[in-house]
Amino acid sequence: MSSLASMIKLSALKQKTRVLSDSIVSNINLCRTLAISVLVLCLVCLIFLDSSNRSSSKFFSYLHPRLAPSNPYSSPNPNRYPGSSDSPTNISHLVFGLVTAVVTWKPRKPYIDAWWQPNVTRGYLFLDKPLSEEFLPWPSTSPPYRISDDTSKLERESRHVAPIMVRMVHSILETFREGDQGVRWYVMGFDDSVFFVENWVDVLAKYDHTKYYYIGDYSESVLSNLFFSFDQGFGGGGIALSYPLAAAMVKDLKGCIRRYPFVRSADTIIQFCVDEFGVPLTVEKGIHQIDLVGDISGYLSAHPQSPLLSLHHLDFVHPIFPSMDRFQSTNHLMEAAKIDQSRLLQQTICYLRPQNWSFSVSWGYSVHIYEQIHPRSMLKRPLETFKPWGKNAKPPKFMFNTRWPCETPSVFFFESGGKTSGNQIVTNYVRSASPAHPPCQWKGNNSTDYIKKIQVFSSATKRKEVSVKQSR
Ligand SMILES: *[C@@H]1O[C@H](CO)[C@@H](O)[C@H](O)[C@H]1NC(C)=O
Ligand SMILES: *[C@@H]1O[C@H](CO)[C@@H](O)[C@H](O)[C@H]1NC(C)=O
Ligand SMILES: *[C@@H]1O[C@H](CO)[C@@H](O)[C@H](O)[C@H]1NC(C)=O
Ligand SMILES: *[C@@H]1O[C@H](CO)[C@@H](O)[C@H](O)[C@H]1NC(C)=O
Ligand SMILES: *[C@@H]1O[C@H](CO)[C@@H](O)[C@H](O)[C@H]1NC(C)=O
Repeated sequence: MSSLASMIKLSALKQKTRVLSDSIVSNINLCRTLAISVLVLCLVCLIFLDSSNRSSSKFFSYLHPRLAPSNPYSSPNPNRYPGSSDSPTNISHLVFGLVTAVVTWKPRKPYIDAWWQPNVTRGYLFLDKPLSEEFLPWPSTSPPYRISDDTSKLERESRHVAPIMVRMVHSILETFREGDQGVRWYVMGFDDSVFFVENWVDVLAKYDHTKYYYIGDYSESVLSNLFFSFDQGFGGGGIALSYPLAAAMVKDLKGCIRRYPFVRSADTIIQFCVDEFGVPLTVEKGIHQIDLVGDISGYLSAHPQSPLLSLHHLDFVHPIFPSMDRFQSTNHLMEAAKIDQSRLLQQTICYLRPQNWSFSVSWGYSVHIYEQIHPRSMLKRPLETFKPWGKNAKPPKFMFNTRWPCETPSVFFFESGGKTSGNQIVTNYVRSASPAHPPCQWKGNNSTDYIKKIQVFSSATKRKEVSVKQSR
């Protein structure tokens, strides 16, 4: 959209915001008075993210189409493909194949515990060797385990350059071989893949599971894609294979492994095996390999408009909530996921014109406030708080545009949330130190320093794609 068009929209908005902002101003003034004694201030940023809430004021109906731009994710459409008599895809149609090793299972178990729902999610955990007494009895809260097939013969015979990768690829066959009934999708991942299962169900439901599909995402770091492949799904973020594709692949998976003994990555071997069927990668932007290091809060605060499906490599980045350790952080994000997974990390940008403030909300994770009006086209680019996987990589480093962290906003992180009595969801965000930055914070005339807490209200219904009709 041209900046002129957005200026026009903004000035139209200005009229409509007046009533609301007056009430906010008085709220702030009230809070400011309070602050002196209790040091707790609040600014209520009312944000309606769902168009089904037709009772919202004209202000919101104006604001709405800009708050919730259409996204590639749409709700399951049973008429979309032949076989439409099939029931909608649900959690029981997915089977997870998770590859681990005895040595990494213990430290990484908390990542799987964070998302695995015992007796609900289906799948298996593949270990490299039998478990010692220390791990037994196996808890029923963890995925059932299997010991991987001995692939050493295959590794030797094929003279594979990276023997360890053979077991990983072979786990597709071993997952399939379990013979689960009614499977539509196999989702493969590792012990440090954190999955958002409800979103996987919604996203996979829009594809025809009776066709060949290979779904994944690129690495965030350009060099990883260059080094491995621009056409592969990176396995840590997870890949989904439709049942028919998995069934076709396993018929000669060993043969396929033998055909690519010179390939150093399991993900690339899998891509090459899929290529043999003429199936391309289908990219889902909510899958995250996280080939990044350092503070990824800038990345998670400007997520593309696509349901969050996975996070990976959380051991290699700073805890995503700076006041917590890695496992606490993961569980904390899951708290928000339990409230409304469909909105998790979805970015909403809004403005408070009289103060010249811009808000960027990453639902369930963070709120950033800038003391300037920045266009959406700028705020949707992540602040470059992180580094690429190869720390010394030269530009272009990332597969997306970034902003210098110099434009440091006031930063608030998710604290808590829940339903309100009015069938809405409220999430609370509390102030945190701004990320480390060069001393060039952009200050406006109206400081946000005294704001300690932000509340965001959203509809209690699932986030859906906004149709053209609704946007009018
Ligand atoms: C999922 O759908 C199947 C029909 O395909 C149904 O039998 C099953 O009860 C559903 N499971 C859940 C958990 O909704
Ligand atoms: C899962 O189901 C099994 C068998 O029905 C039961 O013994 C076990 O306690 C259940 N586990 C959990 C965590 O609910
Ligand atoms: C601050 O306000 C003055 C007028 O009151 C204006 O000239 C100036 O541009 C403003 N500065 C910023 C950074 O908005
Ligand atoms: C908002 O920014 C504009 C442009 O920089 C400036 O003219 C105006 O004075 C600012 N208003 C406030 C309240 O800071
Ligand atoms: C914002 O800044 C303008 C210009 O400096 C000032 O008149 C106004 O009172 C400020 N508003 C608040 C809420 O501080």
